[in-house]
Amino acid sequence: MGTENKFFNKILYADKIAEAVSFLKMSGNKELIEHSDEVAQIARMILKNTDDADMKKDKKTQIALSYMDLDTLADLYELHDLGKIFIPDEILNKPGRLTDQEFKYVHRHPENTKKVLDHIFGEKPNKTIQALYDTIMVISREHHENYDGSGYPKHLKGENISLLGRIARVADVISALMGHRCYNREFNSFESIANYLVKNKGVLFDPKIVDIVTIVEKPKDNVVITKENLLNVFDIQNEITEIIVKKVSSKER
Ligand SMILES: [Fe+2]
Ligand SMILES: [Fe+2]
Repeated sequence: MGTENKFFNKILYADKIAEAVSFLKMSGNKELIEHSDEVAQIARMILKNTDDADMKKDKKTQIALSYMDLDTLADLYELHDLGKIFIPDEILNKPGRLTDQEFKYVHRHPENTKKVLDHIFGEKPNKTIQALYDTIMVISREHHENYDGSGYPKHLKGENISLLGRIARVADVISALMGHRCYNREFNSFESIANYLVKNKGVLFDPKIVDIVTIVEKPKDNVVITKENLLNVFDIQNEITEIIVKKVSSKER
C-alpha cells in the first residue's frame, strides 16, 4: 500500500482510535490513563529505532505497516490495556497481594480489549478497518507474554510473540516501574530501570529490544561510531529520563 493510501487510512483510523481512547478516559482511572499514554510514547521511541529488517521479518508488523505509518502504529499502544476498564477499582487499586480469583480477573484484560473494540467497530466493513482492529488486538493480547514463555494469557515464547507484542512488553514494564517509584525508590532513574531490563534480557524481554533502550553499541572493527549513531541511543535514554522526571515532579506537587 502506497504512502497516499496510508494517509487516507490515517484519517479513516483516527475516529476509531479516538473513540477507543475515549472509553479509556471514561474509566476515570488516572493512573491507567497516564500509563497508557506513557506506553505509547515509549513504544514510539522503540519502533523508530527498530531495524527495518526486523520489522519486515515479523509478519504481523509487516501487515500493520502495509496499512498504516509508524506513528499511527505507535498510537495504538495507548490501547494495550483497554480491557482493564472492566476490572473493578477495588481490584485494580488493591494495595496488597491479589487473591488467585482476583488474578484470574486481571489476567483477562488483554482479551477483554476485544469487548470494547467489537462495540466500536461493529461489523467490520473492509480489510482496511479489519487491519486496524487486528493490530490493536495483537498489541493487547501479547503485551504480557514473556520471551521465555512464562507470561500470559497464551504463554507464547520467543518469536512466537510478534515484534509488536515484544515491544509492548518492554514499553509496558518501563512505564510500570516508573509508577512504582512511590513505593520503591529502587526504580527512580533510567539506570535502575535499564539494569532491570538487562537482568531480564532473554528471560522476560526480547534481547534486541532491551538493547535498543539500554545499549550504546560498541564499535565493530569496520564501523565508525559517529555522533549521530551515538546520539540516537542517548536520545532514547534522555526521552525516558524526561518522562520519569516529569512524573516525579508532578507527584511531588
Ligand atoms: Fe496490561
Ligand atoms: Fe499496561
